[in-house]
Amino acid sequence: MTIGFLGDLYPWTKALHIIAVVAWMAGLLYLPRLFVYHCAAPGGSETSETFKIMERRLLRGIMNPAMIATWLFGISLLLTPGVVDWSAGWIWVKLAMVAGLTVQHHLLTRWLEAFRADSNTRSAGFYRAMNEVPTVALVVIVVMVVAFPKGVVGMWEALQARYRQRTGKGAALNRASHVEGAE
Ligand code: HEM
Repeated sequence: MTIGFLGDLYPWTKALHIIAVVAWMAGLLYLPRLFVYHCAAPGGSETSETFKIMERRLLRGIMNPAMIATWLFGISLLLTPGVVDWSAGWIWVKLAMVAGLTVQHHLLTRWLEAFRADSNTRSAGFYRAMNEVPTVALVVIVVMVVAFPKGVVGMWEALQARYRQRTGKGAALNRASHVEGAE
């Protein structure tokens, strides 16, 4: 299902999607970092109270609105005519990664509540590890969205063309006839 008028808005929807993504990712990467430092501050101390304010402002002021905007503009892009080929694998991998980031967002909210109640039991090492989750998801998503549809399929087609040129053979490399654009 697509919505016709979204076609005219496509460059704007994509620009706003990317802006929202950057803000959301900044929070997903920074909040676990704050938790790492917060672990070293004794409960009830002035430092701990300062971290609580920083964490709450980051979550409420930036991350929550940015996550909602990322989803809204992302779904608008899905509904834009001609943008997504649902038979291509990249969009499914991307959506799985985004679902993972959304779960991470909700877990961070829960951990923030524990810090707020001075009842955190997790270690700095745990939050350091959690910091790596959005990094990995970010790399996979950007490769899936930017390089995979054009780059990987395009590279395969160029390889085929070179092989045909060199050998004069028709489509010997063309076992992947399911690849879009392959003859
Ligand atoms: C929240 C759910 C999301 C949905 C439904 C969604 C969907 C989409 C769609 C349909 C496009 C257009 C692709 C095209 O124009 O060919 C797009 C573009 C893009 N998305 Fe998302 N996205 C989501 C979240 C994210 C996240 C979390 C990231 C990064 C971590 C991201 C990064 C990008 C980038 C960089 C582009 C531009 C790619 C280009 O230049 O074509 N998206 N998104």
